[in-house]
Amino acid sequence: MLSAMASRLAGLRDMEAGVLAITDHPDDDWKRCRGWLGLVRQAGQLLDLAEGSFKGRVARNLSEEATAHKASLRSALHRAESRVATFDEDVRRLARERLGLRLALVGKGGAGKTATAATLARILARRGRNVLAADLDTNPGLAFSLGLPHDTNGLPAEAVEEHEGAAYGWQLASGLSPDDAVKRFAAQAPDGVRYLGVRKIDEPEKQAARQTVIAVLQILRGFSDPAWDVIADLEAGPTTVFEDYHGFADQILLVVGPEWRSALTARRLLPVIGAIPTLVVSNRWRGADDHAGLVPAVRIPFDPAVIEAERLGLAPLDYCPGSPAVAAIEDLAEHLTTSSELTTTQLTTTDQEVSS
Ligand SMILES: Nc1ncnc2c1ncn2[C@@H]1O[C@H](COP(=O)(O)OP(=O)(O)O)[C@@H](O)[C@H]1O
Ligand SMILES: [Mg+2]
Repeated sequence: MLSAMASRLAGLRDMEAGVLAITDHPDDDWKRCRGWLGLVRQAGQLLDLAEGSFKGRVARNLSEEATAHKASLRSALHRAESRVATFDEDVRRLARERLGLRLALVGKGGAGKTATAATLARILARRGRNVLAADLDTNPGLAFSLGLPHDTNGLPAEAVEEHEGAAYGWQLASGLSPDDAVKRFAAQAPDGVRYLGVRKIDEPEKQAARQTVIAVLQILRGFSDPAWDVIADLEAGPTTVFEDYHGFADQILLVVGPEWRSALTARRLLPVIGAIPTLVVSNRWRGADDHAGLVPAVRIPFDPAVIEAERLGLAPLDYCPGSPAVAAIEDLAEHLTTSSELTTTQLTTTDQEVSS
C-alpha cells in the first residue's frame, strides 16, 4: 500500500516536472495549460482513489501516512488548478479540446461496446489524435475490431511481476512506468492507434489473463500523457464496474442495445458509475422510442454491414467506412473533441424506480 502511494506521488511529480519543462514560447501556452489540466485530472483521480481505499480498518493502520499522502495530492491539485486559472479563457478552451480523452465503454454483453470502441479509436486517430485503445475483456475482441492481426497478444509476461498484495497476485513490473509500458508494449494498430490488452483466456497459459489485468488497469490509471486519448473496452456486465475498472476515465460511454435487458443492465450501472459524466450511446437503433431514463447522447443505427464485418473478422472502419453506423460514430468523435454539449445522463429517482 505504501509503496503504491509513493509511486503514485512520484508519477505525479514527474508529470509536474514535464509540464514545467514545456518551453516558454507564447505559442505553447495552450500546451502548458493542457499539461496543468491533465495534472488536475490525475491528482483528482488519485485523491478519489485515496479517499476510497483508506476507509475502515486500513484507515486506522495507515492513518498518518494516508493523511500525509492525501495532503500531498491536495496540494498538487491546488498548484495545478491555480496554474490553469492564469490562462486566458481562449487558451483554456483550446487546451480543454486538445486534452486527451479518458473514456470507458460499459454496458451489457452484445450492446456494441467493442465495435464502437474500436471504430471510435480509429476515427479519432485519423483526426490526428494520439489514441491508446485498451481491452479489459478476457475474450478476444477489440484487437479484431481495430483491424489487428488475429494473433495480436496482450501485455507480455515481462511487463508483470508477482506481488502478494495485488489482486490475483500480479502487478505491473516495478520500475516499469505506465508511460514506458505503453511506449514499449502497446501494439501498433491501423491509423496509428496503439493497442493494449490483457492476455486472452484461450491462450495456453490459463493464468495469463489474470496475471495481466491488474497491470493493464495500473497502466490506465497512471498513464499521464495529456496529449493522448485513452479508450477502454470493459468486459460485459457490472462486475468490472463494481471493481472500479472504469476509475481512470473522466467520461463513460454507456452502450445500450434495443433489448429490454440491455436497458436494465444500463440502469443498474448508473448508480455504480456514480459521479463520472455518462453519455448514453443507443446502439443498433431502429427508430424505436428511447429506453426510459436513458436519453441517448448519440444513436448508432442498426447496420447489417457491422455484423458482416464481424463475421469476416474485419474492422468495421475497413469493411464499411461509409456505413450509417460508422457515420454516427464519426458524429460521436466530433462531439467528444469539440466543446459542443452532449446530453449526459445521471441517476434520477425515476431511474431508480424503473430499475427496482
Ligand atoms: N450498429 C450495429 N448494427 C448492427 N450490429 C451491430 C452494431 N454494433 C454492433 N453490432 C453487432 O452486435 C454484436 C455485439 O457487438 P459487440 O461490439 O461485440 O458488443 P459488446 O462488445 O458490447 O459485447 C456483434 O455481432 C456486432 O457486430
Ligand atoms: Mg465486447
